[in-house]
Parts: sequence; structure tokens; C-alpha cells
Amino acid sequence: MSQPVVVAIDGPSGSGKSSVSREVARRLGLAYLDTGAMYRAATWWCLRSEIDLADTAAVAAAVRAMPLDQGVDPSVEKLEVDGADVRADIRETWISEKVSAVATNLDVRAELRRLQREAIAGQTVPDSFSEGRGIVAEGRDITTVVAPDADVRVLLTASEEARLARRARELHGAADAAAVDATRDQVLRRDRDDSTVVEFQVAADGVVTVDSSDLDLEQTVDAVLDVVARLTGAR
Ligand code: DC
Repeated sequence: MSQPVVVAIDGPSGSGKSSVSREVARRLGLAYLDTGAMYRAATWWCLRSEIDLADTAAVAAAVRAMPLDQGVDPSVEKLEVDGADVRADIRETWISEKVSAVATNLDVRAELRRLQREAIAGQTVPDSFSEGRGIVAEGRDITTVVAPDADVRVLLTASEEARLARRARELHGAADAAAVDATRDQVLRRDRDDSTVVEFQVAADGVVTVDSSDLDLEQTVDAVLDVVARLTGAR
């Protein structure tokens, strides 16, 4: 790979996009940016600072001042806010239930998009983590707003059934009917709230859809790598 490659991957929750994007980055020797983790870290920071999430101006001001340290090595997850390791906390239900309130704040989105664009641009220069080879960035609006000119743009979808089963396994260790039911409300409500500010369920023009409903992680990674190879020649 001689030219830097920017791979943008969007998708709803439970589409498998974080695991898939991280593995694609690892295989190609690229940096990896989990933008959902940034919204989660911002939520953690606001709650820890005891800010009322309905006070949109206070939330935006807090996020602008957030001391965030996020790694881009796909093999070593690093996410610190004000020196605290928040990797485990941000996956907890108390964050998942509140994150949409922060992610639908337009001033927060403007600030986090600025940071995301900086991180992406930083990985296309030779003195960066990826030695300028590029980055895989994933989220909800990467293919459309953050990096609409990315070399590769993928929308990773999966049927509602498959997404709920995956989330149930993550949260409850099983995908039986009770576990799926317990997950349904949380996942569908978050998708509905999030889609009020970003469209991530339908592929925009030029975005390649990869449907992972009937694929396992390995097969989905291969499908995305095929798209990258077809569009950039990178393997
Ligand atoms: O992918 P995730 O579940 O970790 O995302 C956490 C939240 O952040 C989710 O509610 C949607 C939001 N998000 C967003 O609005 N834009 C992004 N680029 C990434 C995530």
C-alpha cells in the first residue's frame, strides 16, 4: 500500500461494526478509530461532572473541555478521560441508556467530528501511528459527514433479528427469547433516537452495503477486505 487509505464504516448497533473494523485495521496495518467510544466517553465525562444532560449548552461546553486520550492502535485499546481508564465503564448500561442524549446534541457532534477529522488526517502523514498508511474509522456518520471522501465507504447492516441476538449474547451471555426481549427495547430505542440526527440505516450514494446477517466475524471481515481490495488494490 503506497497511498494512505481511509476506510469509513457505518452501521447500527449490533451490526458487528466495531469488531469487524478493528480486525480490518489490524490485517491492513492501519490505525483504528471507534467514534462511538468518543460519544460514550463524552457521556461518561458529563455524568461524572454532574451535568444535567438536558442542559445542551453545559453539555457542549463540557465536551469541548473534555481531556480525552484515545489510542488508535487496533491491538491495544486505550481510552482515558482526565487520566481515568473508561474502557469498561463506557460499555455499561448506565452509559448506553444515556448516550443518545449526548449524541443528539448538535454542538457535541460538531466538536467530536472536528476531533475525528483531525485523527483521520493525522493517520495519512508518515510520522503517525500507522506511518501514514491510513485508518479505519467507524460510527454512524463517517461515510456521510465525517469522511464523505474516504477511499472506501461501507455500510455494515444486519437484520434486526441478528442484531438483537448479537447484543443479547454480549450483554447477557445468551440469545434465548428472554435475553433477546431484555435487549430489544434498549437497542431499538437507541437506534430510533440516534437516527433523528444521522441516517445510518440506508446507504448513501457510493457507499457499499455489506449485510452480515448470515456471516460470522471472519466472513464479514473477509467481505469488507474484498471491498477495500476492489476499491484501492490494498490487501
Ligand atoms: O456504536 P456505539 O454503540 O458505541 O455508539 C454509541 C452511541 O454514539 C450511539 O448511541 C450512537 C452514537 N454515535 C453517533 O451518533 N455517531 C457516531 N459516529 C458514532 C456513534
